[in-house]
Amino acid sequence: MMQDSIAALTAEITTADLSNAAHLDAFRISYLGRKGRLADLFDQLKAVPTDEKRAVGQQLNALKQQAQALFDEAQQAAEAAADNAPANPDFDYTLPPVPNALGTRHPLSLVREEMLRIFGRIGFAVAEGPEIEDDWHNFTALNFPENHPARDMQDTFFLKGGGIGTRVESGGVEMPWSGEVISGITPARDEIPPQNPTAAPNYLLRTHTSTVQVRVMETEPLPIRRVMPGRVFRNEAISARAHMMFHQVEGIFIDEGVSFADLKQTVYYFVQELFGADINIRFRPSFFPFTEPSAEIDITCLICKGAGCNICKYSGWVEIGGCGMVDPAVLENAKIDPEKYSGYAWGMGIERIAMLKYQIKDLRLFTENDMRFLRQFEAL
Ligand code: DAH
Repeated sequence: MMQDSIAALTAEITTADLSNAAHLDAFRISYLGRKGRLADLFDQLKAVPTDEKRAVGQQLNALKQQAQALFDEAQQAAEAAADNAPANPDFDYTLPPVPNALGTRHPLSLVREEMLRIFGRIGFAVAEGPEIEDDWHNFTALNFPENHPARDMQDTFFLKGGGIGTRVESGGVEMPWSGEVISGITPARDEIPPQNPTAAPNYLLRTHTSTVQVRVMETEPLPIRRVMPGRVFRNEAISARAHMMFHQVEGIFIDEGVSFADLKQTVYYFVQELFGADINIRFRPSFFPFTEPSAEIDITCLICKGAGCNICKYSGWVEIGGCGMVDPAVLENAKIDPEKYSGYAWGMGIERIAMLKYQIKDLRLFTENDMRFLRQFEAL
């Protein structure tokens, strides 16, 4: 009898286990599917006597709706449970989160990037050179005669062993040197190999970025307009005002008919872009072997605005770098015709400029990695 079948199926459906995904699937297939038990009973409806058809049909429809409702409800509950279930049940979700700590740019990077941007706006592209240099690029090509006292202006770290041969550092980096760093004093005359670019080079840690001037003059087509940032090394006792490692931005411009006026205008532009229009600039005559004439660049002391304080030694001025017209002998060393070409160059300390810009009173702060110091540059 149809009625009995409906009653039996109703009992089955209302007590079915719908507690997990596999049971839900089985339920759907065996009761609700196109070949399921309910579809079967609907087929049998044709055989039911006409006067009963209507009532049986209603019962069947009601059962179908009930089955569907039970299924939908159980499926929604299963989905909600899956959403709330911990991905890793062993993990303690009540632990406080590890903060997503963003790093900050180092003040020296901020200043270097700003300096390069300013010079970039007037056409100076960036070049870089090695920190381990040969004597030629650090001294001889820059018109420091061999054993001339001018070499002692920059206390040099020489690399023992004359730099002959190579050495592989950890990480596979090849170093052009086989010995150890010896500091300070220039090696005795007979320890220095002949100083010319083809002889066995004598290696050292570069004392200034002027080395890169030589490298670009030796290799690049004229005219040359370059800025050259980098790290330099000198055997200085570490204090609030001096360090054995610091940074410079070098610049060079070589073309036909370049004059000291061009150099001054470049420096004026740079200083006013970096520090503002109310800063005064002073060129103080000086000496560098590689420029003639040479000058130190002084600007108004930013700490006291020129009134005099202990930072500017009560002069109202602070030095930010050296500059000058490239010496004809330096052009000749790089095989550039000094009769046809002239140019200017400068070198500025990044630390010095950062200290003025951010009123930092101790050079050591830049290398101590104290987060309390570094975090202050977060917003810049
Ligand atoms: N190399 C010099 C130093 O470290 C700075 C300098 C002076 C660089 C004059 C130059 C220059 O290019 O023309 O003290």
